Amino acid sequence: MSLRKIKVIYNDDGGDKYLFDGKEIKLDSVSGTAGDVARALSSNGFSTDLIALKTADSGRLGDFIKKVTADDAMVFNLCEGAFGKSAFEMHIAALLELYGVKYTGSGPLTLGLSLNKGLTKDILSSRDIPTPEYCVMNEPPSRLKRSLKFPLIVKPLKEDASIGIDSGAVVKTMKELKKRVEYIITKFVQPAIVEEFVEGREFNIAVIGNGNSMRALPPSEIEFVDFPDGIPKICCYEAKWVTESPLYKKTVPSCPANIPEGLKDELQAVALSAYETMGCRDYARVDMRVGEDGNLKVLEVNPNPDISSDAGLARAARAVGLDYAALILNIVGNAAERYGLSGFIAKETSCAQPL
Ligand SMILES: Nc1ncnc2c1ncn2[C@@H]1O[C@H](COP(=O)(O)OP(=O)(O)O)[C@@H](O)[C@H]1O
Ligand SMILES: [Mg+2]
Repeated sequence: MSLRKIKVIYNDDGGDKYLFDGKEIKLDSVSGTAGDVARALSSNGFSTDLIALKTADSGRLGDFIKKVTADDAMVFNLCEGAFGKSAFEMHIAALLELYGVKYTGSGPLTLGLSLNKGLTKDILSSRDIPTPEYCVMNEPPSRLKRSLKFPLIVKPLKEDASIGIDSGAVVKTMKELKKRVEYIITKFVQPAIVEEFVEGREFNIAVIGNGNSMRALPPSEIEFVDFPDGIPKICCYEAKWVTESPLYKKTVPSCPANIPEGLKDELQAVALSAYETMGCRDYARVDMRVGEDGNLKVLEVNPNPDISSDAGLARAARAVGLDYAALILNIVGNAAERYGLSGFIAKETSCAQPL
């Protein structure tokens, strides 16, 4: 295996465009993250190749595979989907497995299961990991199961990055619910997941490592600052990605979160259980809310979270003294260790040891 080289692979679907305030805005894409990761790897002494899988490559997958497998290098897998479909995220990891390529991050089963919010919640609940009550709907409901009480939140069953989540996602009446479920099914061509809306504080907890080296980083809180009346306090699509949007500026991450030690321990313990239960590898992020009753609930597990240099995971790493280059090195080191490549990091780089 070529120990000095790492191939950073990502899906390039041309960058998302979003209509905001009558203007078309081009949003950041994963290519920015790929650049960040490649620079961090270079600063750690690796040579890197950036390989994009473009939507236009759809009929030419063989070329992509050739580039990825051309020499026996490790792959840093940043693919969040392929050919514009998030459902294909797991297929890329599966391809890497089939070709015997060693790669960072979670495997296909974990990626596929985590993209399905309903299956994830079934698995978490079966291990007594708390998650909001829910129901998957293939059509607008005529009635509700008794355990579901308004307000509810309606999301696409198999998306992430807050796709399909805007202020209309939180519904208070049967009429609003039916309309929103219809909207999700029609627009996203998939079932809707309807969940109990957890009013309360929101936290992201990053986890890195595997087995004995697995650790939860300090919780990050998403604070909803001066949200206008009538707008639900959620990380909707605009709040997450559209930097021009007022909601983006009012959704403020703070890490480490200002919380009592007991809550921090609880958040970290639940994040570690969720990470292990879903079979995450090397790094992931668990999103949670703490209800007004003090009960903590897992909203979702992200086995392939944003790891750009300004994203939450990098911020949480900095809070424990791991700068960005050290975080990326830690991820590569943990992947190498899984493949039995002991000494991969120590021999090949001059930078910090993984934690
Ligand atoms: N059950 C819920 N109660 C309260 N807020 C929620 C709930 N589910 C989702 N949200 C809000 O919507 C955001 C996105 O939902 P999430 O389930 O994390 O999906 P995504 O994969 O799109 O990030 C969350 O960060 C949170 O602000
Ligand atoms: Mg989320």
